Amino acid sequence: MELFFSVEKEKEYHDYKCFEIGGSMMGNEIKTIGVLTSGGDAPGMNAATRAVVRTALARGMRVMGIRKGYNGLINGDIFEMDARSVSDTIQRGGTILYTARCLEFLEPEGQQRGADMCNVFGIEGLVVIGGDGSFRGAEKLAGLGINTICIPGTIDLDIACTEYTIGFDTAVNTAMEAIDKIRDTSTSHERCSIVEVMGRNAGYIALWCGIVNGAEDILLPEKENISEDDLIVRILQNRKKGKKHNLIIVAEGIGGSAALAERIEKVTGIAARATILGHLQRGGSPSAVDRMHASMMGAYAVDLLSEGKTNRVVAFQKGRYVDYDISEALAMTKDIDDFKIGVSRLLETR
Ligand code: ADP
Ligand code: F6P
Repeated sequence: MELFFSVEKEKEYHDYKCFEIGGSMMGNEIKTIGVLTSGGDAPGMNAATRAVVRTALARGMRVMGIRKGYNGLINGDIFEMDARSVSDTIQRGGTILYTARCLEFLEPEGQQRGADMCNVFGIEGLVVIGGDGSFRGAEKLAGLGINTICIPGTIDLDIACTEYTIGFDTAVNTAMEAIDKIRDTSTSHERCSIVEVMGRNAGYIALWCGIVNGAEDILLPEKENISEDDLIVRILQNRKKGKKHNLIIVAEGIGGSAALAERIEKVTGIAARATILGHLQRGGSPSAVDRMHASMMGAYAVDLLSEGKTNRVVAFQKGRYVDYDISEALAMTKDIDDFKIGVSRLLETR
């Protein structure tokens, strides 16, 4: 099934939905679904939850909210949601369902307990909003007979099957605004600023910030990076060319920002400061882009459940919403965009 973005297709989709919602459930067997958020939170998770709840209710399903990811599932921290449960949440950061990392769920006993709990609460279908770790958990539940659909929710943009993950746009904008401010003071003091952005294994936030904030260098976990010595040479060269400050973006996975700042200051005599932006990148009101993708993906996930589908990941590819088998999605790989890296290098002062 594909949910298109074009106006024509959107209209077709709308007409089809109105028919379905107004008419019978057309063979829809699922009467009760659950929804949970898992792993690192991301702006837009609430918009996705809202879309899941309201589209499911519109289809005549009952919706159970599960708090704290798989932890809440195992422990029965489950409550019935109605349309008002998600009122006033589309603009809110974080996740009203709370989130957690659940070690017990890594074990088969924990997964079985999760499936048993679904049966206790009558949950036949489950929407899991999270990153690839959460998808692995969902795959296990699907194997235990619970229809599961995943929605990519992570600021890292590191899920290979989809061009977009909910939270990325807001996180990048938050980081960009913070870095603009750092740049102001860095220029005033003619300093070198090292800014560390989130992304343990993924450099998308770093690459985007490097470009949109006009950094001189970007250090990414996916690529071989410039050596510290060459970085220092470049800082000195840039100063000779008249640059008033230096901005270096470091992905969390590379780390070592404070030590790098110390070394730069010691070797060059140029004052250097490190800033780790940290979790502020995970919070805040979601951008329009995040709210839109979250709303569409939430609706799409419920469609899949109503069609009796299971073990699927909702994805955004080439302007369309599509879906993949979870194991197929997890086996996919994507490389960070070499074109963007190339352009970022051309834009750096040489
Ligand atoms: P994210 O979903 O953001 O990638 P994690 O990797 O921390 O975050 O995963 C979130 C949760 O998903 C874990 O705490 C665990 O409960 C569950 N999970 C992760 N990997 C697996 C796995 N291989 N099998 C079962 N559950 C898993
Ligand atoms: O997956 C999102 C993310 O923010 C990563 O960029 C980061 O490495 C990780 O989560 C940090 O997670 P936490 O501090 O919540 O354990």
